[in-house]
Amino acid sequence: MIDRVFLIQLLVDNLNVDRYLEIGVFKGDCFLQLNVPRKICVDPHIQISFWKKLKSILRDSNNQNNQYIELTSDRYFDLYHDTLSHEPPQLVFIDGLHTFEQTLQDVLNILNYLPENGVIVLHDCSPPTEVSATIGTSLEDAKQNLLAKHDGGWTGSWCGDTWKVIPFLKDNYPELNVSVLDFDFGLGVVTKKKNFPKKSYSFPTDITSYQQLTYDFLTNDRQNILNLIDFSQLPLVLKEHEISI
Ligand SMILES: C[S@@+](CC[C@H](N)C(=O)[O-])C[C@H]1O[C@@H](n2cnc3c(N)ncnc32)[C@H](O)[C@@H]1O
Repeated sequence: MIDRVFLIQLLVDNLNVDRYLEIGVFKGDCFLQLNVPRKICVDPHIQISFWKKLKSILRDSNNQNNQYIELTSDRYFDLYHDTLSHEPPQLVFIDGLHTFEQTLQDVLNILNYLPENGVIVLHDCSPPTEVSATIGTSLEDAKQNLLAKHDGGWTGSWCGDTWKVIPFLKDNYPELNVSVLDFDFGLGVVTKKKNFPKKSYSFPTDITSYQQLTYDFLTNDRQNILNLIDFSQLPLVLKEHEISI
């Protein structure tokens, strides 16, 4: 199946990733399937039972090294500065709180530790419908916001306004390669261009114009706004990111 697990495992195998971080793990559907020597997940409400963890170890012994950190991503970055500095993850999958602001914060936080050849993958960057792009601070909140507008069409698929991170990064950080693969609700890929001086990232003072972007704006020029690339072009995208497979 062509999905986030496929893409992340492909990157793990080709980049020889030893340390993987997932922000927002939920039931571990992606996390537990990945074969990586060391995996860390961060989520304030991890929903993986003891038995599921045990089964995952029996299936793949690497899962005995898994670290389950039950915190919000902000708190994790506050508390784990030393660990992140000494042993930064080479591959990070961001799939936590689906708001523009929090996803941007997560990306900027991890950019401060990501090595030059590291990769960030972002879920939900190409919401398929306006309903799936409803703004909210949780799935339930987004559903209530939609109902409050007397709009129907809720399907349970929720991307929020994570997509706004893509134009924001493209417009403001020339030292980054940013693209979105057009499968599994849009998988953003962010890497650092080589030979740019190292810099530190902090949350921008004004993001209002991006907060105000509408779903119509996205649909009018989705390909260009997201740098949206079809699966058949995957090798080309990875080449652009200087990842050889
Ligand atoms: C869509 S689920 C993650 C799915 C998982 N990555 C997968 O592919 O199977 C989103 C998760 O993000 C978590 N979350 C919400 N706010 C968060 C935050 N501030 N920091 C980290 N995780 C958060 C939720 O608890 C939820 O479990």
